[in-house]
This record gives sequence, C-alpha cells and structure tokens, in this order.
Amino acid sequence: MNSQEVDRIKAFYRRWEPTYDHGNSGYLRSLDERNMHLKHLLAGFPGLARCRILDVGCGYGDLLNLFHQQGVSADGLVGIDLLPNRIETARQRYPDFTFKEANAEEIDFPDNYFDIVTVFTVFSSILDRNMAHNVARGIMRVLASGGVIVWYDMRYPNPWNRNIRPMTKRRISELFPSFELRLKALTLLPPLARHLGRGANSIHPLLSTVPILRSHYFGLLRPTR
Ligand SMILES: C[S@@+](CC[C@H](N)C(=O)[O-])C[C@H]1O[C@@H](n2cnc3c(N)ncnc32)[C@H](O)[C@@H]1O
Repeated sequence: MNSQEVDRIKAFYRRWEPTYDHGNSGYLRSLDERNMHLKHLLAGFPGLARCRILDVGCGYGDLLNLFHQQGVSADGLVGIDLLPNRIETARQRYPDFTFKEANAEEIDFPDNYFDIVTVFTVFSSILDRNMAHNVARGIMRVLASGGVIVWYDMRYPNPWNRNIRPMTKRRISELFPSFELRLKALTLLPPLARHLGRGANSIHPLLSTVPILRSHYFGLLRPTR
C-alpha cells in the first residue's frame, strides 16, 4: 500500500467537489444517458435481484441506488471508498446498504463473493501503478466465477487536471489481462456538455452522436477463463 498516494487522492477530493454540476442541464443529460445505458445492460443480467454488487470507489452511493431501483435487494449492495465524508453521506442517504471506508487495495470480503463489481471513474483517479494493480487484483479476487465488472471511466486526458489519467483500452487490459473488454465510447466531453446552457436538451443528443466527442468508455469486462 502506498500511503502517499492515498493521501494525494484524499487531498484532491477534499478540494474538489463537483457541486457546480448538479444544476447543469448538459451534465444532467450526460448522467441520464449513462444511466439509461446501464439500465439497458442490467436488463439482460440473469437473476439480478439476488446478485451481490460491490461498488469500488462508491462516492456518495448513488450508483448502488440505481441497482436497487432495478430490483437488487438492499442486503446485496456494498460500497467502499477512501473518503470518510463520502461514506458518511452514503450511509445517511442509503441506510439499508452496506458502506465501508476502505482502501480498495485491501477489499475485506472473501474470494469469489460478488456477482458484479462496478468501478466508475476510479482508476483514472489513481496515478500510482502499484496501487492500480493492487486494486485490480483485489477486484478480480472477490469477483465470482461468471461475474462481470461494469466499467465507466475517462478515455481522454484532462489537460486542466493533473490528478487524472486517461484509462485507454491498453491500460485497462494491462490491469485486467484475462478479461475481454466490451466497451463503447460514451458521454459528451464534460466541458462541452456543461457549456450547452439552455440549449442542452436539443443540442446534447446531436453532439453525443459524434464518436470523437465521447470522453468515456462504458461497458463490461468479462473473464475469458
Ligand atoms: C471521481 S470519484 C467517483 C465516485 C463514484 N464512483 C462516481 O462515479 O460518482 C473517484 C472515487 O474513487 C475513490 N477512490 C480512489 N482510489 C480509491 C481506493 N484506492 N480505494 C477506495 N476508493 C478510492 C475516491 O475516494 C473517490 O470517491
């Protein structure tokens, strides 16, 4: 475990809270679009209601709530995050789910335990290679055989933010070498989406059809053996 990297991530997120996004129609359109794709993906998942789900880097817990809305029982929903204030808020918002303040390098669950592990914009926050590999190994350890990872993260660098690194397909494959990547590009470039203003509802759907303007990868990582 690299305590300097843990401290850097904690310090970064203490300074950076994306509260400005919440009333922004371009941002909200992007969020709706991503959630719509996620619901579509989950619709084909066998036995979803009884699945155990782990959200790594769960933040405020909202992604787990989407799984709950799709029928997953509250006692199957677990989130872990480094940041105590996010875990505290998540517990207040969703008292029936399980949240742990923890470093995902050391996931405190048995091997083969979770049917689905979600990891949304987490690896792009981890600059240290060893930490990234430790987190990936932990995810692979707790994932049940036949389980899947649901992935969403940035594929482009952010020139204004040195605390973020792009998660290209090559980097993802390095972390999860025995997984098949079923990913598609999604999400209109956030700086562009945020500046659409009142026109967001009409312009966002048009711009987001242009593949090069999509900043994230979304989809499944499936074990090949
Ligand atoms: C950009 S936020 C994303 C939060 C949430 N997944 C979402 O999509 O809204 C990245 C989160 O990953 C967490 N994180 C980064 N590295 C972590 C680690 N090693 N262990 C646990 N959480 C980590 C951060 O604390 C932060 O809450």
